[in-house]
Amino acid sequence: MNTLAGKHLVLGLSGGIACYKAAELCRALVKAGASVQVVMTEAAEHFMTAVTMQALSGRTVYTSQWDAREANNMAHINLSREADAIVVAPASADFMAKLLHGRADDLLSLMCLARPLDSVLLIVAPAMNREMWANPATQRNVAQLRADGVHVLDVGQGDQACGETGDGRMLEAEEILDDLQAFFTPKTLLGKHVLVTAGPTYEAIDPVRGITNLSSGKMGFAIARAAHQAGAQVSLVAGPVSLPTPRGVRRIGVRSAHEMMQAVQAQVDSVDVFVACAAVADWRPATSAEHKIKKDGSGQTPELSFVENPDILATVAQSARAQSGALFCVGFAAESHDLLAHATAKRARKQVPLLVGNIGPSTFGQDDNALLLVDAQGATELPRASKQDLADDLIAEIARRL
Ligand code: C5P
Repeated sequence: MNTLAGKHLVLGLSGGIACYKAAELCRALVKAGASVQVVMTEAAEHFMTAVTMQALSGRTVYTSQWDAREANNMAHINLSREADAIVVAPASADFMAKLLHGRADDLLSLMCLARPLDSVLLIVAPAMNREMWANPATQRNVAQLRADGVHVLDVGQGDQACGETGDGRMLEAEEILDDLQAFFTPKTLLGKHVLVTAGPTYEAIDPVRGITNLSSGKMGFAIARAAHQAGAQVSLVAGPVSLPTPRGVRRIGVRSAHEMMQAVQAQVDSVDVFVACAAVADWRPATSAEHKIKKDGSGQTPELSFVENPDILATVAQSARAQSGALFCVGFAAESHDLLAHATAKRARKQVPLLVGNIGPSTFGQDDNALLLVDAQGATELPRASKQDLADDLIAEIARRL
């Protein structure tokens, strides 16, 4: 579910070096299926040409309220009435101060003031030097803009064009895209806390060797992202994978099944939904050597014996809260064949209301997947699609069942 497809956005640029990121943002928005009308302030034109933004958006850029192209000469009214949202990125300190006071001496600020409050979101992505950002005047403006219903995005942290380091960078284009997608996602899980496990576990044999599996974590990370976009507070207990943490999601990194169990148990009493997507190792070596096991040249191989790991999902599903329905548990089954039979049996064995089956060998590491949702009523297929789309659908299904 790409929530930006078919949306019409006004992308406003005010003055700042972060205008170069607005070019990337424009491209990403168009790629996501939105139509983009760019409006630039005079200051923005010092940092980026209208030609570049026109080429990326496929529409001529507006820079002046006196633009004669509009028959009624009311660009500020016409452009703001068509839009689903006005996104000002970058929003300079000066532009935010202007918005705050309802000043309207250029097309972009005029358009923000003239927008219909009920139907056109105003989203601003601040970008400025760290001292400017930390200044009480800016912080006061941000607080008041938020109180006035303007969505002020976070700022990034790091090296700045001026050579200083700190808060105030504009978010990256991908991050803004993520936030914009969230704005248009129905908040079906608002007020809910969702706990997700994802990725493989790693069971140490000695300090340098261990047993793991091919799970990439992509499905679980996509579920965490989807739950966050649907308005939930999300905790993600992730095995050893190097995927970026979805925006707004709290990640708890673990290695072994035992650590995953501990991290889940520390949270599960306060969550409403538990999605066990991790590929947890069924067994671990009975002992883990303190030092690297050395090959001694004799041809002898080390003896390995195993003990069974705790079943995290089954343990949680048997808790009083899960049994009473206060905690909704979702399990996964990665099978190689007979998906329906195995997933149905696993749902009963794990005592979960919803079990999601998939074919392990055709999904591990891939960006797409196909799911079979099995509940008490029967089975529903979610045909092959990107893991993110499937995760969005799965979250909608979970929300429907709560
Ligand atoms: O029994 P099996 O490993 O096939 O079950 C898969 C489901 O159980 C998945 O949801 C997985 O995350 C969960 N699981 C678990 N702890 C284990 C083994 C599996 O939470 N030790």
